[in-house]
Amino acid sequence: MPEQSTNANTVLITGASGGFGLEFAKQLELLDYSLILHGRDKARLQMTMNTLKHPERHSIVQADLNAKHGLTSLLHAIEGKNLIGLVNNAGFGIWGGFLQTGVVPQIDVIKTDLKAPIALTHALLPGLLRNKGFIINVSSLAGEYPLPYMSTYAAAKAGLTYWSEALRIELDGKLRIVTLAPGPSPTGFREISGMPHSTGSFFRTPIAIIIEAALRTLKKGGGYCIPGWRHKLLYAMQKTIPRVIGLRIMAKQMRS
Ligand SMILES: NC(=O)c1ccc[n+]([C@@H]2O[C@H](COP(=O)([O-])OP(=O)(O)OC[C@H]3O[C@@H](n4cnc5c(N)ncnc54)[C@H](OP(=O)(O)O)[C@@H]3O)[C@@H](O)[C@H]2O)c1
Repeated sequence: MPEQSTNANTVLITGASGGFGLEFAKQLELLDYSLILHGRDKARLQMTMNTLKHPERHSIVQADLNAKHGLTSLLHAIEGKNLIGLVNNAGFGIWGGFLQTGVVPQIDVIKTDLKAPIALTHALLPGLLRNKGFIINVSSLAGEYPLPYMSTYAAAKAGLTYWSEALRIELDGKLRIVTLAPGPSPTGFREISGMPHSTGSFFRTPIAIIIEAALRTLKKGGGYCIPGWRHKLLYAMQKTIPRVIGLRIMAKQMRS
């Protein structure tokens, strides 16, 4: 059962049409939450819905977070819903040399991965605070280290991590916040980014382990969550290998 004292039990998951979002949906349903599954691709959202045990408890909302009125239409669609939780999960990255990749997709990465979570949280925070609810911000270990050939993505995730961690302390005792920082994982992310298949495979961690770790951190009251031993190892390397060497290794890895 949801642990909160209010009777609100609806959770909005952005980017629920696959990958982490799909797994969040499965695991949050097991905790008895009602879910609002957000994404752009209706057919894939419906596939998420079809994997759930009680589809009658959940709903689907379509909105493109990069479109001019995308965020407004999402907020409009969920107006009146008494939310207990928000999972800011929708996101993507663009792989390639900075100059070779168009500026529009680069800016779209900032819009989806950084601007949307901040704007969504700001709009939904009063209700979440009233319900003593929670927020899970899906950031990345890319937010801990500059990433050649995915420079804008790392910048967006660094921003998201810093914002989320600051907010977590600011709202301590009022709202639980998890900043989730996974490394490479087997979702649709790599294919969408255009990244070659070989990079980062040793550190790949199963999706279920990542979401379980996030929800364990939430149960403990929130925190910064690096899931699984492989991602913890990657983080330790990010923090110990001198940057001048680490950046060259990363550039080689990312270029291949
Ligand atoms: N996989 C990894 O290696 C990894 C590692 C660390 C962090 N992350 C983060 O994990 C989060 C989830 O990604 P994933 O790995 O699960 O990848 P994914 O399978 O590609 O899922 C991404 C989700 O984000 C949604 N999305 C993307 N752009 C959107 C937009 N403009 N408007 C609305 N929804 C949008 C997609 O919805 P539609 O398909 O319906 O458009 C999809 O549901 C992202 O924030 C990503 O940065 C991933």
